Order: sequence, then structure tokens, then C-alpha cells
Amino acid sequence: MTKHLLIGQTLSYSGNPFSSAWEEVSHHSSRGAVLIDGDTIAAVGEADDLRCAHPDVPVTDYGDALITAGFVDAHMHYPQTGIIASWGKQLIDWLNTYTFPEESRFHDLAYAEEVAGRTLDLALAHGTTTLTSFCTIHPESVDAFFGAATARGMAVVAGKTCMDRNAPDTLRDTAQSAYDDSKRLLEKWHGVGRNTYAITPRFSPTSTPEQLEALGALWAKHPDCLMQTHLSEQLPEIEWVKSLFPECRDYLDTYERFGLLGKGGLYGHAIHLTEREIARLSEVGASVVHCPTSNTFIGSGLFDLMGLAQSTIRIGLATDTGGGSNFSMLRTMATAYEIAQLRGVAVHPSQLMWLATEGSASALHMSGQIGHLGIGAKADITVIDLASTPVITQRSARANDIWDALFPTIMMGDDRAIRDVWVAGRAV
Ligand code: GUN
Ligand code: ZN
Repeated sequence: MTKHLLIGQTLSYSGNPFSSAWEEVSHHSSRGAVLIDGDTIAAVGEADDLRCAHPDVPVTDYGDALITAGFVDAHMHYPQTGIIASWGKQLIDWLNTYTFPEESRFHDLAYAEEVAGRTLDLALAHGTTTLTSFCTIHPESVDAFFGAATARGMAVVAGKTCMDRNAPDTLRDTAQSAYDDSKRLLEKWHGVGRNTYAITPRFSPTSTPEQLEALGALWAKHPDCLMQTHLSEQLPEIEWVKSLFPECRDYLDTYERFGLLGKGGLYGHAIHLTEREIARLSEVGASVVHCPTSNTFIGSGLFDLMGLAQSTIRIGLATDTGGGSNFSMLRTMATAYEIAQLRGVAVHPSQLMWLATEGSASALHMSGQIGHLGIGAKADITVIDLASTPVITQRSARANDIWDALFPTIMMGDDRAIRDVWVAGRAV
């Protein structure tokens, strides 16, 4: 196996800085090192110690740059890459005006492959080593995405988006075809290489009860798969769900009734939750995914990060591109910080970095495998330049600890701050 030693500042975690004191579970070294053995992290420690112990191993010295786990984006839509930053609409109009016409193109395998490759390369350029993506209703879009991720050695989560109502003719499947296609695709891709399949009803307004029931039955037969969908993103959406499912207690109940509430469930947005919904998500240990740049861009609302972090709900962080307006998890952390400020709390940089790596990995039930700078994790690593632009450089120059040095990059950084990315032990 090929070994390689990366030297620089290092940041790693031994626990959750929302439930423990961040000072105790965040570990920084100003001259640290990471030993890669093949595709895995074999050691994290002080540079001098690891160099002495492994004198013949090739070294890349990143100087003052910060070596962290690669970012994990826990919710996005690769077919929307081409329409990112489209002007002037809120959720339902935005879907009908921009999203559905673009998604209709993904029956074309060549187009899907081109966009999948472009999206994964953009993610890597922004320091993101894992994407969790919705595809379109077309099985070709799923093959294209898993194929492109496999070619790059990336761990990804994805699934065929299922919709059998309230969508254009070109974007509707049926309860039966959604079941059959999803089953065939999960048998083809789930657990193959670094691929994880997520059964993917888009959201309850675009699925009939029959389709939700069919997908719930499929999940019951394949409980090791994840399940991803959207939940309580915008108030008009919630009213629409009420009118479509008058018998349900709330939005979450439209999933729960059909077997689509469970520990492996990933519920995107989850902004306007009722007490019952929070209690049920906590009880089952489900994951919600915070998509801050999307929530401000589409005008959805202010996610209660600090409130939900007190529960047993797992919380991931995500770009939600193209509803989200940026590929950068730095920009995503910045907006999470700003939304929390609007709710009256300041999220610490150690908590933001944890969310973008360990938190998202935990939401995907992949703790210790990805998003983790520690022994045994896959060597998916991002190296961050803490002085990537003149304005960041002049601010971080006054910093007297790592958090004060890192925070300007979280708030003002973008792909220019990404010095290097390693995927499964290989430099990209
Ligand atoms: N709800 C249902 N579909 C979508 C989508 O594509 N993006 C966002 N942000 N919300 C959704
Ligand atoms: Zn989404």
C-alpha cells in the first residue's frame, strides 16, 4: 500500500461540539500531520512524531494551511446544477418555472453524464468529497451519477426521484414504476463501491398515497438503504400538504403513515416543525438536513439549529443546490451562522466545521467512515488556505487562535480557499 504524510495545521473531533463543550471535543494542532495508508487514514498526530516514526514516507507539507476531513454535503440536486441562481421565485413557482423543465432533460443519458461529472468536479473544487443527491425520475440520471462518482472514487448517496402527480407529464412515473425502477437501481448500486442508495420520494405533494405506500414497502424490504425527501420547507407548501392529505396530523405524518419515517430517513429543510414532529423525529433518531443558502435564497425561513441540536435528531448540513445558491460548504456554514444570528445565537466555528463534516456524516449514518479526520476513516481530506484572498489575509493576520484565523475563511471563503483535496487517499 502507498503511504503519504500530509503536514500542516490539523483539525479533528472526538465528539459532538453541540452536546459537549466544543473546547473538549475539537482538536487543533498548529503543526500536525495525517498519515494516509492506501485509501485510509492510518494516523493523525504531531508532524515531528509521525515524521520520525515514518521516515521513508513521501511528505506533502502544506505549511499553515488547515487539513480537515473533506466536506460532506447531505442534500443536493445534481440535475439542478445548470439552473443554480435563477431569479425571483419561491418554492412552488421555482420548481415549476426553472426546475421541472431542466429535470425533464435527464432522460438523455449523455446529458445526465455530462452534468453529473460537472457537478462532482465543482463539488471537489469546493472541497466537498461526498454528495447526497436527488436524481430525476429517469433511471438514466441515477446510472449517470453513480457512474461518475465511481470514476472519481467518491462516496455518494443518491436515488431516483419519484413523482406521480403535480408534475409535468415528462416528469411523472407511477406507483408501480417508481417501485420497480427504484428496486432495480438499488439492487444495482447500493453498497457497490462507495455508493449508497436512498429511496427518494421528492416530497408528499408530488406523490400519491399509493406511491408513498409502495416506496414505504420497498424501504421495509431494504432497510439498509437510506430514504431522502423534503419536509416543512415553506408555509404555502405546508398548507398544500394539508389540503392533499386532510387525514394526516401534520406534514411528517404524510411520510409516517406510509412507512417513510425511520432512522435512515433524511428530511431536508425541516424548518416549520410542530412539537409532535420534533418529538417523533427524535424518537426514531431520524436525520434532518439544514440547507441554509437555499432557505434564504428561496425565502423559506429560519431553521432552528440550536433548538434541534438539543434533541436526539441528527443534523446534517447541505447546499441544496440548485435551490441553494452556492456549491461552497464554507458559504453554507456562513449562512448557517447568519440564520442562527437572526434567531439570537452565535454558532461557534468549531460547531460549523463539525456540522459540515462529522455532523453530515452522522446524518448519513457514516460516522467514522467519512467526514472524519481519524484512524480508520477513508482518506477524504480537504486542505484549506486560511489566507486565500486579500480581505481574508488581512483579517486572519490578526488572529490569535485557530478559530479566529478560520472564521474569516468560513464567512468570506469560496473555492479559492481550497488548496487541495484528497479522495480515498488520492490527490485530486
Ligand atoms: N421540495 C421539493 N423539491 C424540491 C427541490 O428540488 N428543491 C427544494 N429546495 N425543495 C424542494
Ligand atoms: Zn432539496
